[in-house]
Amino acid sequence: MFPGTLGGGVVGRALAAGKWSYDVTNIRDFAINHYGSVDDEQFGGGVGMVMRADVLGAALDSIKNPGKIIYFSPRGPTLNQQMVRGFAAATDDANGGTYTLLCGRYEGIDQRVIDVYNIMELSIGDYILSGGEIAAQVFIDSCVRVMDNVLGGGSDATANESFEIGGLEWPLYTRPSVWRGHSVPEVLLSGHHGNIERWRKQQSDDITLERRPDLIKENKK
Ligand SMILES: C[S@@+](CC[C@H](N)C(=O)[O-])C[C@H]1O[C@@H](n2cnc3c(N)ncnc32)[C@H](O)[C@@H]1O
Repeated sequence: MFPGTLGGGVVGRALAAGKWSYDVTNIRDFAINHYGSVDDEQFGGGVGMVMRADVLGAALDSIKNPGKIIYFSPRGPTLNQQMVRGFAAATDDANGGTYTLLCGRYEGIDQRVIDVYNIMELSIGDYILSGGEIAAQVFIDSCVRVMDNVLGGGSDATANESFEIGGLEWPLYTRPSVWRGHSVPEVLLSGHHGNIERWRKQQSDDITLERRPDLIKENKK
């Protein structure tokens, strides 16, 4: 599963260039038997299996420099761009920007692991995935692209985007200037930077108000 989608594009090039790196710990290597069992039935009954505390504890203890441990879980706060910026900026903190991303399967993991290791739970949205690996890739992709030495933390490439500009992005156009009888908005061909900037701001405000009024309220807080 790794690097999976992280092997391509901007994030893949950054990986190849050594700007970020990862190690995979296979939880099955810490299975309790030769069948590779890492899960068991829930105490209290109920459908679905739970990942065992002893297995996960051994897997976590095998990691030399775990940094901050994050468990991907629908119960956590939902990842947003502001949080992404925070995680990415932590590269110069005591852990050197190291994270251990714990990916659940089945019904999830034994609560005691979360409690004993003081693990942060993090969700990527209000839906249920079958495993945490995709969530981990979402986390890594979004963090790596805003790292200073990748696209440039403060560069236009990452600063001029939805959620970074206090709302959603304006409509984008490229060549050809006329396609199937549809022209791009005249102002974009005018070369008048002030007018273009005003048009983009207006478009961004209109789209945000229509689709995500909650973002406007959030910015006013
Ligand atoms: C089938 S889910 C378990 C869902 C759990 N029983 C619940 O109701 O909250 C299996 C694993 O996928 C991951 N997962 C599922 N949805 C997720 C989400 N929205 N965000 C982050 N991780 C998620 C978690 O690691 C979880 O342990």
